[in-house]
Amino acid sequence: MNLSHLGNLSHFGQLLAQDSPIVQLMEDLGEALSRNPDILFLGGGNPAQVLEAQQCFQKHLQALAADSKATSDLLGVYPAPQGADSTLQALADFFALECGWRVSPANIALVSGSQLAFFILLNLFAGQTSDGGQRQVLLPLVPEYLGYSAQGLQHDFFQARKPLLKLTQPNRFKYALDAEHLDIDATVGSMCVTRPTNPSGNLLTSAEMEKLAAAARAANIPLIVDIAYGTPFPGLVYEACENPWRPGMINVMSLSKLGLPGVRTAIVIADEPIIHWVARANTIMSLANGNLGPALLERLIRSGDLARLGHTTLPDFYRGQRDFLVDALDKALNGLPYRIHEPQGAFFVWLWFEGLPVSSQVLYENLKKLGVLVMAGEPFFFGWEKSWPHARQCLRLTYCQPEEVLAQAAQIIAAEARRLFG
Ligand SMILES: Cc1ncc(COP(=O)(O)O)c(C=O)c1O
Repeated sequence: MNLSHLGNLSHFGQLLAQDSPIVQLMEDLGEALSRNPDILFLGGGNPAQVLEAQQCFQKHLQALAADSKATSDLLGVYPAPQGADSTLQALADFFALECGWRVSPANIALVSGSQLAFFILLNLFAGQTSDGGQRQVLLPLVPEYLGYSAQGLQHDFFQARKPLLKLTQPNRFKYALDAEHLDIDATVGSMCVTRPTNPSGNLLTSAEMEKLAAAARAANIPLIVDIAYGTPFPGLVYEACENPWRPGMINVMSLSKLGLPGVRTAIVIADEPIIHWVARANTIMSLANGNLGPALLERLIRSGDLARLGHTTLPDFYRGQRDFLVDALDKALNGLPYRIHEPQGAFFVWLWFEGLPVSSQVLYENLKKLGVLVMAGEPFFFGWEKSWPHARQCLRLTYCQPEEVLAQAAQIIAAEARRLFG
């Protein structure tokens, strides 16, 4: 057997061993953060090193290590499929207090990172059905998180809708849901949105969320809400925002953007049957989750640290970073045809160069040669075949690095854009 060709692999193998935007993103990230530290890194979604948060995690790690019963539970015991009872109870109490959600431990499952949680959830409701039909995941507006794009165990896994594009003020714009054209039919198995949105930093309004929830209810499909950056933690939302949870909704949260991507822990909140299915699928694929994330999570909740990090520490830090980068870009890009998406949440600036003479992929490659790593916009527009020039004119910039890095990167991006626009 020739092992060097994808063609020799099974259908599953071809889908999972292929190159894809998320694989390239993580390769870029690994290269920049471990092998090429001089590159100005505004690329992948690694969270910032926030001193106060790091000290807090260290304090809880030390307390864990100093407690011999906790250490032996941490290292020597497989956790139950959904997660340990005490962690699930702490989470249910936390969500009731912080968000007013009526959830019990039976509505919560822990998974090894939300990337895996989405692999399970998206494939639970879309793909080939037992009657020979095929259902897809509906993305109610793109751009959306590119990490989903290669997760389907079937080709043509997504269908996406174009957003409305609103020019909000000079050099700013915002995407809005085109509720008139959601068009949910029998080919749709679930709906999925990030709130706030990776990559645009958009915060879907409460009215838009209500429309999506009502449409999902009417079609009898789940609405999956990815709260990787949202409230109650890590809380990277710079205006008032509440995320509801109701039967029929699936909320997915993660410890990663809190500053703990290394512990690979995500939380799924859903109706009881869905929680059972997620826990079973997780057990088949990975047997059990790691214990470190859940153990830290429980301590963060009980000490009140999780609420503090999500209410003030992290939003204050990232708001400062956002303001710095937006200001640096406004100054450096002055006179160029650019617009920044209203930066309402997450840790990204989504930069649109209207009429860009090359694709954003070419701009990304040029910038990489100049020592600045960003994300090209195209891969975030997936699940449709439509040609929309806007989809080739945007860049995603992460603002997790120190100010001097952001300032230098803004200058280089502006110089390259000026060269391209002539
Ligand atoms: C919107 C969104 N969802 C999910 C993930 C996956 O995160 P993790 O698997 O670390 O929980 C990311 C990571 O960047 C993300 O941006």
